[in-house]
Amino acid sequence: MWQPPERIKHELPAASWPTSEQAASSLLFQPRGLGPRTAKERTWIPAMVPWRASEDGFVTDDVIAWYRRFAEGRPGVLVVEATGIRDVPSGPLLRIGHDRFVDGLKRLVEAVRDASNGQTLLLIQLIDFLAIRRRPQRDKFFARFLAITERHREALRLLTSDPAIRLVDDDDVRERLAALPDSDLPYVLSAREIEDLERGYRERVTDTHVPHIRELPQVLPGLFADAAGRAMAAGFDGVELHYAHAYTMASFLSALNTRDDGYGGKRPHRARLSLEVIAAVRERVAGRGIVGCRYLGDDVIEGGNRVEDAAWFGVELAKAGLDFLSISKGGKFEDAKQPKVGWSAYPYTGRSGYECMPTIYSDARGPFSRNVSIAGTIRAAVRAAGLETPIVSAGGICEFAQADAVLANGEADFVASARQSLADPDWFEKMRTGRGDQVRRCEFTNYCEALDQQHKQVTCKLWDREELDAPDVKLASDGKRRLIAPKWRR
Ligand SMILES: Cc1cc2nc3c(=O)[nH]c(=O)nc-3n(C[C@H](O)[C@H](O)[C@H](O)COP(=O)(O)O)c2cc1C
Ligand code: SF4
Repeated sequence: MWQPPERIKHELPAASWPTSEQAASSLLFQPRGLGPRTAKERTWIPAMVPWRASEDGFVTDDVIAWYRRFAEGRPGVLVVEATGIRDVPSGPLLRIGHDRFVDGLKRLVEAVRDASNGQTLLLIQLIDFLAIRRRPQRDKFFARFLAITERHREALRLLTSDPAIRLVDDDDVRERLAALPDSDLPYVLSAREIEDLERGYRERVTDTHVPHIRELPQVLPGLFADAAGRAMAAGFDGVELHYAHAYTMASFLSALNTRDDGYGGKRPHRARLSLEVIAAVRERVAGRGIVGCRYLGDDVIEGGNRVEDAAWFGVELAKAGLDFLSISKGGKFEDAKQPKVGWSAYPYTGRSGYECMPTIYSDARGPFSRNVSIAGTIRAAVRAAGLETPIVSAGGICEFAQADAVLANGEADFVASARQSLADPDWFEKMRTGRGDQVRRCEFTNYCEALDQQHKQVTCKLWDREELDAPDVKLASDGKRRLIAPKWRR
């Protein structure tokens, strides 16, 4: 992963854990309305993909164990990982694109209700994403993937001064292109083709010459609404529309979206699909559940959205009736590291990825509460528009006083902690009961994120080698790591 060049190593913020009385009277542990429901407290575990679904997208016992373990700490809100809304093969990513997925999701809901004693609101994150291919071998790219056009012939003719090139067949053109040194490729390939070669082909929302991309605005509202309907049928308290990071909906919102069909260009056009999806989902859910979204307070890529765009979108999304806005940052493909041949680009490897999940190796600002100010700016814009929509902030929040201050300063209404909750799923319960000194503190060095990147079952380095031979321990497929945190012995 990219790291700020300063590479200043930051210490964890000093912990100031509350007594149970202090916790009970703190803002963090007060209830807060969330659309048609009320969260018992303002603690929140945001979506984290643990790579435990079956190859065909079903809930497995391991998925259930993962969420049950988080629910034991009784957060106010728990969001289930990004779950695909289409009925298409997508590897071990959880899916909700067909009714056959509902039974498994029901079991997940029941497990969370049981483990949290009904104290935790459970949402599911609904995602759509576009196709991405692995970085090809150079020879295969020219032999199979590149679509030969007259432009290539003409460029080759100019480069080689060989008029016969006009007459040779496509296979011959492929061979001649493959034989060129890399330094000549910019003369014969478009920037997009070079990117396909060097990083692997990746669809974009601006590829409107491709029919299924052009039709996204017609197709997505229905797909999201159907998925939300299934989430309700499975018993979830609501849905979180995934409008963040490198995926379809965030790409529509981004300033890089130049579609000219009324769904790109100016902010209102970029927001249009998001608003149409919200309308379709709200109609389907009709007051039965919470409907919110996660989106980016800053794209962190050249030409992308900045916080001013995000504040404008926040007001529009809130006006459209969303029950919460969860603010993330970055996590884009555009600045991702070049993958090795045979690997796919991964959107959390560049600077924007760092800003999404900052580590202790940072710049002077450091990783802790790093993204709170953008949430604060969005919240202020939403409040100035006369709307009370709750704002959720995440990013390096890992300690009681720090979390409570975010709320006290009016920068957010819920405090989300992903990695700290993975490091210690009981940490909310420990704070509540005055046992904060027993919290296992996340080190923010992203061992978990590296596993995620390799699509390996995600675990935490602080506990995954502990008590491996205890009778009820289930190991990861590498046989070396336990899959969930050991029980807290009070
Ligand atoms: C292993 C892992 C998987 C993640 N998966 C998702 C996801 O499915 N959807 C999402 O919106 N964010 C995802 N995130 C980002 C987190 O929700 C969160 O925004 C980020 O880790 C920063 O918060 P933190 O500092 O509390 O960890 C993931 C993070 C990690 C570490
Ligand atoms: S693996 Fe590291 S960064 Fe991830 S939750 Fe554990 S301590 Fe935190």
